[in-house]
Amino acid sequence: MCGIVGYVGRQNAVPIVLESLARLEYRGYDSAGIAVGSERGTRIFRRVGRVRDLEASLPKRLSGRTGIGHTRWATHGSVIEANAHPQTSADGRISVVHNGMIDNAAALRAELEAAGVAFASETDTEVIAQLIARARADTPEAAVLDALARVTGTYAVVVLDAQHPDRLVLARNGSPLIIGVGDHEMFVASDLSAIVRHTSSVVMLDDGELATVTADSFRTFTREESDTARTPTDVDLAVEGIELGDHAHFMHKEMHDQPAAVESVLRGRLDDRFGTARLDGLNLSARELREFRRVKILGCGSAYYVGQLGAGLIEELARVPADAEAASEFRYRNPIIEPDTLYIVVSQSGETADTAFAVREIKRKGGRVVGLVNVAGSSIAREVDGGLYLHAGPEVAVASTKALTNMAVAFALVALMLGRVRDLSFADGGRIVAGLRALPEQIGQILAEEQRIAEVAADLAAASSLFFVGRVQGYPVAREGAQKFKEISYRHAEAYPASELKHGPLALIDASLPTVAILPDDALLDRNRAAVQQIAARGGPVVAVTHPGVDVGIEGAPTVVVPKSEPELDPILMTIPLQLLAYHAAVTLGLDVDKPRNLAKSVTVE
Ligand code: AGP
Repeated sequence: MCGIVGYVGRQNAVPIVLESLARLEYRGYDSAGIAVGSERGTRIFRRVGRVRDLEASLPKRLSGRTGIGHTRWATHGSVIEANAHPQTSADGRISVVHNGMIDNAAALRAELEAAGVAFASETDTEVIAQLIARARADTPEAAVLDALARVTGTYAVVVLDAQHPDRLVLARNGSPLIIGVGDHEMFVASDLSAIVRHTSSVVMLDDGELATVTADSFRTFTREESDTARTPTDVDLAVEGIELGDHAHFMHKEMHDQPAAVESVLRGRLDDRFGTARLDGLNLSARELREFRRVKILGCGSAYYVGQLGAGLIEELARVPADAEAASEFRYRNPIIEPDTLYIVVSQSGETADTAFAVREIKRKGGRVVGLVNVAGSSIAREVDGGLYLHAGPEVAVASTKALTNMAVAFALVALMLGRVRDLSFADGGRIVAGLRALPEQIGQILAEEQRIAEVAADLAAASSLFFVGRVQGYPVAREGAQKFKEISYRHAEAYPASELKHGPLALIDASLPTVAILPDDALLDRNRAAVQQIAARGGPVVAVTHPGVDVGIEGAPTVVVPKSEPELDPILMTIPLQLLAYHAAVTLGLDVDKPRNLAKSVTVE
């Protein structure tokens, strides 16, 4: 949720930390802060607001060879400067930046206060700083170990000790932390995108691992202080992937990345000879795939809605009962884990805490869980028994687009393979393979209609409330359309199965409540048309997302026409114009598209 960066080296740390922080700002943007270490001591600056506000507030000649920085999405304590990171010990010696949540922070704080320690913030992070400062230890590393031994919860922490400005001490437990190895300089970050401009040589810390980083070396070790002797690996993350280029927003760039992103998720995975998909990463043999009696999909937010689409695809193509559930609810209802169920988790970031906890719940109870994950090496990717990388490339906008599309395509691949080891014919398999292969070009055709979709969006932006409706596989499309719209335009948008309108929501319809209707040219077209006509008959404006040649049956209704694919794949294409509608509505309203209020890109707390 928050972003951590650090630097130790021969250059001035300040511009490096600020530039890296700006790259991580999408992860949390309530407030930002920096601590700069040198022989003269540590100087700390924090601001409520964006990294640019922090930068503007810094003294002109601020410099130091060591620095840590943070962008915050508030969990413990309100959005005020005192709660921004770095947090410091009462004596000012220890500065800490932290992602995650300390579960026993309240008890530790009470204990420290009883011992006379004065707290300056409401944060759990300050508890860590105070504990480190009070540890009876000879080295900063020993003090950090001593403090963390008292702490339960999740964390990635980076510690700067004013008495040792030549180094940073790092610790990871449940929240990512990466060391970037440079030439006489080291970089630290919670996310690769903050590092790749400087080096491609990285060490990703494991849970329970700590590290000391100086300009010329790093040492990784366990909580028991034995060295873990990690060797840096080379990561392949193109800098262009995280640059805006000619686009006004990352969301715009990422929508337009989609044809290439879909090509990437398909690459090497389609098998024309057998009309199937090759997904070796799942680590499941044909026999094992045949033995599953159910599929259960888990994800959060939009990933959950795509999961619902994926469940429909699996039922259609493989005829295996499948359903999707919000991962955030899953472990709280003591789920029954069955050995003949295939569990699939789906996540762009691979760091969503609720989804990671679902993985652990399944594994604790002996279930088999695979992951569809975008970020390579992320926590979820490392914990699952197998899976597919989505290869969508880095996604920066909080509102997910290309990763979701690739999730849907990945589900189609899984459904195709599951189907082909069961009853899906070679001919139908071949038909899906050809349909998948055509998707990138068809997505390009939809994106080419952007101007016209923007005009429709400008009208929708005027409404304070909207409905999105679809039937069967059109329903998860509608849910995702509503999610995207509310996320970035702050308009109330609600999705319903088209069949449900007459059971209640129709009462809300009037001229002020537009409905975006998913109207594919399929066997349910007549029924869907009847539903939208019921809306129009009550004066409700309708925007139809439909196929070429379809008569929507409402005079003058604006339509967005999407190229026809195979019926099973049509819903994937129908989500694309809904992204554009949401984007252009938010632009019309002059909102901060990439960083919507109250949200953060990856939700690493429960
Ligand atoms: C998508 O637009 C949302 N920002 C959000 O619902 C997101 O899909 C959800 O938080 C899950 O994230 P993940 O894919 O990184 O696990």
